[in-house]
Amino acid sequence: MATLTAGYAYLRAAGTSLVVALTGPLPHVLHWGADLGALTEADCEALDLTGDGSVLNNALDVPRRFSVWPTEADGWSGTPAHEGHLAGGLTAPRLRLSSAEQTGAESAGGELVMVLADDAAAMDITLTYNLTTSGVLTVRSTLTRRPSGPDAAEAAPYDLAAVTALLPLPRRATEILDFTGKWSRERAPQRRPLAFGTHLRAARRGKSGVDSPYLLTVGVPGFGFRHGEVWGVHVAWSGDQRYLVEQLPEGAGGVHAAVLGGGEQLRPGEVRLAPGESHRTPVCHFAWSDAGLDGLADRFHEHLRARPAHPRAARPLVLNTWEAVYFDHDSDRLLALADRAAQVGVERFVLDDGWFRGRRSDTAGLGDWTVDPDVWPDGLTPVVERVRAHGMQFGLWVEPEMVNLDSRLAREHPDWILGPAAGLGASARNQYALDLSRPEVWNHLLAALDALVGEYAVDFLKWDHNREIAESVHYRAGRTDAPAGHRQVDALYRLLDALRERHPALEVESCASGGGRVDLGILEHTDRVWPSDCNDPVERQVIQRWTGQLLPPELVGTHVGAALSHTTGRLTADSFRLATALFGHAGIEQDLNRCDAAELERLTSWSALYREFRGLLHSGRSVRADLDEPDSPAAPADPTGQTNILHGVVSRDGTHALMCWARLATSAAGQSGRVRLPGLKSRARYRLRVRDDLGLPSFHQTSGPGWLDRALKEWVDLPGAVLATVGLPLPTLNPQQALLLEIRRTE
Ligand code: GLA
Repeated sequence: MATLTAGYAYLRAAGTSLVVALTGPLPHVLHWGADLGALTEADCEALDLTGDGSVLNNALDVPRRFSVWPTEADGWSGTPAHEGHLAGGLTAPRLRLSSAEQTGAESAGGELVMVLADDAAAMDITLTYNLTTSGVLTVRSTLTRRPSGPDAAEAAPYDLAAVTALLPLPRRATEILDFTGKWSRERAPQRRPLAFGTHLRAARRGKSGVDSPYLLTVGVPGFGFRHGEVWGVHVAWSGDQRYLVEQLPEGAGGVHAAVLGGGEQLRPGEVRLAPGESHRTPVCHFAWSDAGLDGLADRFHEHLRARPAHPRAARPLVLNTWEAVYFDHDSDRLLALADRAAQVGVERFVLDDGWFRGRRSDTAGLGDWTVDPDVWPDGLTPVVERVRAHGMQFGLWVEPEMVNLDSRLAREHPDWILGPAAGLGASARNQYALDLSRPEVWNHLLAALDALVGEYAVDFLKWDHNREIAESVHYRAGRTDAPAGHRQVDALYRLLDALRERHPALEVESCASGGGRVDLGILEHTDRVWPSDCNDPVERQVIQRWTGQLLPPELVGTHVGAALSHTTGRLTADSFRLATALFGHAGIEQDLNRCDAAELERLTSWSALYREFRGLLHSGRSVRADLDEPDSPAAPADPTGQTNILHGVVSRDGTHALMCWARLATSAAGQSGRVRLPGLKSRARYRLRVRDDLGLPSFHQTSGPGWLDRALKEWVDLPGAVLATVGLPLPTLNPQQALLLEIRRTE
C-alpha cells in the first residue's frame, strides 16, 4: 500500500477514471467519469488548477472546494457528509486529512483509503473509495471514536444523525432518472430535469421497498439505453435509506455542478458512539458510463458477476407452488404437481406458503416454523422424497422475520415483537416483525431454520418479508424505547450468514411481497430476487427491463404464470408469457394439473429452450434498444415508450445472441419501421433465425418483411451494417405478442 503524503490519487478501470487531489485542506475529487489515460503529477496539477478553487462573491474568502467529506467548515451549505453531535454540545465538525493510502495497479482499479480526523469530537473517519475492475466505484466509511482521554468532551457519546456518500457531477448532467412503484408494479421509472435544490428520496419502510429509487441516475438530457453519458448511485442496504441529487447555485466547485449521493436513513438517537466504538456505513455503489443505461447496467452486471459467491452453476428451472395452490396444501395434489413439474423439465420444486403449523390463510401461523401435521401428517418427507426421486431440488418458503399474533410464538413471547412500549401499532397482512436484534429471537430463528434445512436437506429458501416496518423501535423493560432499524437489518444479514455457514450449499431468494427488497445489500447474503408478484407479461416485460438496470438475469426470478393473471385479471397468450419468462432465472408459477396436453407440450419445449440458452442468458451482456415511437401511449417517464420493447442478451464475445421483440399495446403507426438491433457490430456479418419453439406470435399485417418468411425456415445471412446501423424492419405484431430471434456472428 502506497502512503500518499501529498499530490494526487488516481484510480482507473474499465474506461473510468477517478482523480482525487490530496492537496487542499481536505481531499477533493477532480474528476469522476471518462478515462483520462495515463496522467502525470503535472497533469493532475493542471486538472486541479483549472478545476475549482474560485473565491465567489458573497461567500467565504477562501477558494471554494467540494471535498470528499463536505461540511460547513468548507462553506458547504448543501447536505453534509455527516451530521451529529457530542452529547451536550458540539455540532460543527472540523476535519483534517490524517493519512491517505492507495493500492492497485495502473488501469486495473484500486482502492484509496483516506483517514480524516475530527479532533474536537475525538473521531476518525475512514473513507474508502474502491474502483473495481468493472468501473463500479464503491464508497464506504467507518466513523470511530477514539478511546476516551482525560478530556470530558472526548468521553461524551457522539450521536450520529446521518452519513451520506457524495460525489460531484459535471455541469452537463442535468436530467434525473429514478424509480418508484407499488406492489405488483415495482421499479417504475420516472424522469425529470435537474433544478436547484435537493431531489431527495427517503425510504422509511424498514426495507428498500417496492418504491425503491433503486439506481438514482443523472445524465446528459435525453440519455437512452444505448447512448448518453450517465452517472448513477445505488445504496447497498436493505433498511431505511436515502438517495439525493442536489444542486446549489454556487455549484459544488468551479467545474462541478450538482452532487449525487446516498446513505442509510438513520433515526434520531439510533447510532450513539461512545469512546472506542465505531459505525460502518453501507456501501454506496457509484458508476459512470458514456454508453447510456445499458453501459451503466453492464458495469453493475460485471461487478456482480465478479463476486466470489456469485452463483455460477446452471440456474435450475423452478416450479413454485404459490399460484398453483395458494394456501390449499393437499398432499396428493402437491405430489401430482411434482410429477407434472418433472415431466415438463423442472429442476427445483419450491413449496410456498401454507406448509407450517396453523397456516391455512395469512391470518395465522407465521412464527411457528414446524410442519403442520393436519396437512402433512408424515411431515414434508413424502413431498421431499417425491421431488428427489424425480431428480429435482427441494425449496421451501419462509418468512422468518415475521409473526402473526395468532401463533404459538406470539402467544409465548409477546415481548419478542418489534414495537414501542406504548403497544403495537396496526398490523399489515395481519402480521408484525420480530425484534431480530434481541439475541433470544435471533438464536431461536437460527435454530428453527437450521433444523428445517437440516431435516429436509433443503436446497433453496424463498425468504419473504411481507410488511413494511413502521415504528422500528424496541422496547426495553424499565428503560426508554430504542430505535432498532439499523440493528434489525444488521441482525438479518448475520442470520442469513450464520444459516448459510451451517449449510454452505443452501441458496436463498430475497422476496418481499414480490420485489420489495431488491438491493445489493441483501444480495450479499442471498442468491436471487423475486422482482414482482406480477406475472402478467405485459407488466412483467417492463418490470424485468428495469430490474435489469442493476441485476443480471441470473439473479432475477422470472416465472411463467397462468393465462389469467392473478394480479391484473389480464388474459394473455402462452407464447408471450413463455418468451417473457425466458430472460431470467426461469420458473413456473401455475397449476400444471390444470394444463391440457398442448400447454404441457409448450412448457416442455420452453424448458428445453431455457436449458439451451441459459448459458448465454446468464453470462452475456443485456441489451435494450432505443425505439422511436412518436405515438407511444406510454408515460413520458419511460424513455422508450411501452408499445414495443426490443431486448436481448449478446454473448460477451459477440458471437451469439437471443433477442425478444415484444409488443405490449397497439399504436397508430402501421409499421414498426427499421430497428437497430442493440449490441451487434456494424462491420461483422451475422445469421439470424426466428425461434418458434414457443409457437409464433400473431401479426398485425398480412405478411411480414421479406426476411421474416425465410428466417422462419432457415438461417438468413445479413451484414452487421443492416442489423446494427441501418436497422432491420421488424414485423408489426398484435398486442401482447413476442417474437424470438437467434443471431450468430459468422465473420
Ligand atoms: C408474498 C410473496 C408471494 C407468495 C406469498 C405467500 O406475497 O410475494 O410470492 O410467496 O407471499 O404468502
